[in-house]
Amino acid sequence: MSTILPSAASLYDRVRRVIPPMEWPSFSNDIEAILALKRERNAVILAHNYQTPEIFHCVADIVGDSLALVRKAMSTEAEVIVLAGVHFMAETAKLLNPQKTVLIPDLRAGCSLADSITAEDIRMLRQRYPGVPVVTYVNTSADVKGESDICCTSGNAKAVVESLGVPKVIMLPDEYLAQNIAAQTKVQITAWKGHCEVHKRFTPADIRQLREGHPGVMVLAHPECPPEMVAEADFSGSTAAMSDYVERQKPPRVVLMTECSMSDNVALQHPEIEFIRPCNLCPHMKRITLANIRSALEQNRHEVTIEPDIAGRARLAVERMLAI
Ligand code: 13P
Ligand code: SF4
Repeated sequence: MSTILPSAASLYDRVRRVIPPMEWPSFSNDIEAILALKRERNAVILAHNYQTPEIFHCVADIVGDSLALVRKAMSTEAEVIVLAGVHFMAETAKLLNPQKTVLIPDLRAGCSLADSITAEDIRMLRQRYPGVPVVTYVNTSADVKGESDICCTSGNAKAVVESLGVPKVIMLPDEYLAQNIAAQTKVQITAWKGHCEVHKRFTPADIRQLREGHPGVMVLAHPECPPEMVAEADFSGSTAAMSDYVERQKPPRVVLMTECSMSDNVALQHPEIEFIRPCNLCPHMKRITLANIRSALEQNRHEVTIEPDIAGRARLAVERMLAI
């Protein structure tokens, strides 16, 4: 029995509150083509929470934060994975699915954190701090993961650090994530000076201004934000943790101090909640569009490959994290 594909018109209902009717025709052809291509190619689309609503709500099969995407990538039966997110996410999906074709629709979808550190930097740190384990944020290249003891995401960083049973760790490359975790644990953390170009721009003054202008607003901040800013928020957690917080607590008025599409995606699931929207765009996440997802599936591009020696070592660091 053949499956009936939803039409683009029926999908519009999911996003009508954030996409004006005038804009919809520019998306609908690509959406219909992508739905058909996914079936033809036995492909799934994994989309990060920062993808735009027409991707997140209309063509994605699996959505979530970095940790959820890593976990769910492993359980897919599909032959092709299209990663609607940034390059390190596609590499991680490939590490865990070496036999599958993993495509990233735009090779330029990078990350300022991944760009802030090299494998050579880690070798230098190991000489400077002999015997201290290296905990590496997934927002890094496979090459960097390959030099690390274990990976973490913003959703499990504290648990990973504490799982090692040691008094000191090196945590890289995000200085602010490391400082935010250090504030919650007795483990001594040595950080690197990498920053997320999106989250580093939020300040405590932003929060004060928001509270003045929007009394009662609940402020949720991603742990890539500066610690002095996180200290003034009501809650801090990964993108999935922020989304779960909204689902559980249903605050009448909320602001998500993170990438802009996140509020659109969560707001669509909660029409009863008022979302205040100061946000910063991630230019890397925004490189992914319906048009290049369609081309990725039509032309099998850009296929992610990782040199086998690096992949073997990097996979171990990711698998150690998943075992926790
Ligand atoms: P999450 O793991 O919280 O989804 O974060 C990924 C990311 O790139 C945040 O900037
Ligand atoms: Fe990297 Fe920041 Fe963009 Fe996330 S939001 S992909 S950490 S630059």
